[in-house]
Amino acid sequence: MQVQIVGSEHAATAARLQVDFNSEFDSPTPTVEVLQRRFAGLMDDPAAFVLFARDGDRPDAPDPTGYAVVTLRPTVYCEGPLAVLDELYVVPELRDQGIGTALLARVIEEVRARGGGEMHINVDEVDADARRFYERYGFYNVEPGTDYRMLCYIRELE
Ligand SMILES: CC(C)(COP(=O)(O)OP(=O)(O)OC[C@H]1O[C@@H](n2cnc3c(N)ncnc32)[C@H](O)[C@@H]1OP(=O)(O)O)[C@@H](O)C(=O)NCCC(=O)NCCS
Repeated sequence: MQVQIVGSEHAATAARLQVDFNSEFDSPTPTVEVLQRRFAGLMDDPAAFVLFARDGDRPDAPDPTGYAVVTLRPTVYCEGPLAVLDELYVVPELRDQGIGTALLARVIEEVRARGGGEMHINVDEVDADARRFYERYGFYNVEPGTDYRMLCYIRELE
């Protein structure tokens, strides 16, 4: 398995995966065309990166087998940027084979290489599988020394 950062020439593929992800979870989704434009901009932005997992040893495997989207921003919370894992997705038929773990490990390696000091991930409370996955790798939503969960508030502006 290879996990690599991909450039904006892969924006259409990333957009297709994003639509698959949104559709699987019955989330409203922008069109592939809209997402392709957004991905192209993000992939060209030095404050973001997209990873693809690929399996060249299995010609029958979908390509890519999964992807991750990360954005980085300045912060006063820590030295270096704060990274947000915006998306992490493995194609349904290849889950539970370590691809998500490989993508997350590469994300953390890349964020560290860029000087990042902290990572955030938003997860739906009902998504027990994803929460177990992230907690296994050291992510938490109850800060040490407290007994209440951190919550994410959103307001759409467009
Ligand atoms: C969350 C997600 C990215 C994890 O990817 P994945 O490739 O399935 O993850 P892994 O295979 O590395 O680990 C998942 C499970 O497989 C197990 N596993 C890890 N490596 C394994 C291997 N080589 N063989 C078999 N099982 C393995 C892990 O122990 C884990 O077990 P768990 O069910 O107890 O949690 C994936 O399930 C997914 O795309 N889900 C839908 C989208 C989603 O929820 N994304 C997160 C939104 S915030």
